[in-house]
Amino acid sequence: MATLAMAGGEKTITRPLGKSWPIWDEREERALMEVLHSGHWWRGGHSDWKTSKVGQFEDAFAAYQHAKHGVAVTNGTAAIECALKALDIGAGDEVLVPALTFVASATAISLVNATPVFVDVDPGSYNISPEAMEAAITPRTKGAVVVHNGGYPADMDRIMEVARRRGIRILEDCAHAHGSEWKGRRMGAIGDIGTFSFQMGKTLTSGEGGIVVTDNDDLAEKTFSYHHIGRISGRPFYEFHRVASNLRMTEWQGAILLAQLSRLDEQTETRERNTRYLARGLQEIPGVEPLERDPRVTRWGFYYWNFKYRQDQFDGIHRDTFLKAMQAEGVPMGVGAHGQPIYRNPVFRDQGYENIRCPEAERIYATEALSIGHRAFLGGQEDMDLILEAVRKVRANTGELRKLEGEKK
Ligand SMILES: Cc1ncc(COP(=O)(O)O)c(C=O)c1O
Repeated sequence: MATLAMAGGEKTITRPLGKSWPIWDEREERALMEVLHSGHWWRGGHSDWKTSKVGQFEDAFAAYQHAKHGVAVTNGTAAIECALKALDIGAGDEVLVPALTFVASATAISLVNATPVFVDVDPGSYNISPEAMEAAITPRTKGAVVVHNGGYPADMDRIMEVARRRGIRILEDCAHAHGSEWKGRRMGAIGDIGTFSFQMGKTLTSGEGGIVVTDNDDLAEKTFSYHHIGRISGRPFYEFHRVASNLRMTEWQGAILLAQLSRLDEQTETRERNTRYLARGLQEIPGVEPLERDPRVTRWGFYYWNFKYRQDQFDGIHRDTFLKAMQAEGVPMGVGAHGQPIYRNPVFRDQGYENIRCPEAERIYATEALSIGHRAFLGGQEDMDLILEAVRKVRANTGELRKLEGEKK
């Protein structure tokens, strides 16, 4: 039996998997030079707001996500804040948010002076549990930030049914879910309003950036106003109607994003092909499991790919020991993208949330969650074979792992 890399043996994988990120070529170079030479470095320099690079990107991306409107902004956090304001959410309102997500899904709620209420997740999908969500609704609940964790769509049928029946608004935080589909419909405008991030690590990127999408004309107009210092479309440029910030995206970002968007479908399909292959391979190894894919998830575009560890089926070895062994073998594996349930962060812990417990989120974070980032899935099937080889090697050496666990104690 091969010695584990963790115990001084040879690594299974000695080269980076997939592709390095970001990916760019002469399309980005050309687009940036075009902006440089045009002299229009912000979208307002164009005769028509929509003929700018940012305007073209808004229309192209909204159409890509099956949404009627898109308003591009500076980043994904600002997008959530702006969308919450468009929903008229503010002081005195409670907004539900899942315990497992990036902290910005919740801090954006605090930033508009509303109160985040942490909700436990569904053990199958790691997304907000529709049952827990309904149970958390109080007379003050105005909405929910529904995150598609790891790009895996939350159960939008149940969520929208609860939302309509109980009269709350749904903001889809799609920072991980570019191109994902629920029953053939892309994410973002299934709820009332949706937001995306184009930060460097995301599957569509301009280094920083974000967008708000919606099918609702009124919400689109309010979002436009809140991202544009309170202006209203069709009114004089120096007339302001709301207390609002400047969240406009630059033409540089718009140009890069248009070029990046031309690759997104092909990249999403490559990732889907690779993860379907990896999922089939993992099913044959006791103790590691892909998420059980809901047939309504017709496309899974992801920022990172979540899967599960089962300690009881892995000879009792703790998930963290397995994770260290896999990392030592050269697999870029982690525990979700963002780690612990977000209420444990000092920003919330020190502000009255110290006794919050979401048992499923705690259990998943501590013992079960595993993930691999999207760029590892941009290569060929041989990369998946290497990951599977590493898992099989670690699986075959649980005796050695137990010894290493014992030495640590
Ligand atoms: C779920 C989620 N929401 C919001 C954000 C915030 O996006 P940004 O970094 O563009 O502000 C992120 C960023 O990672 C995220 O993962």
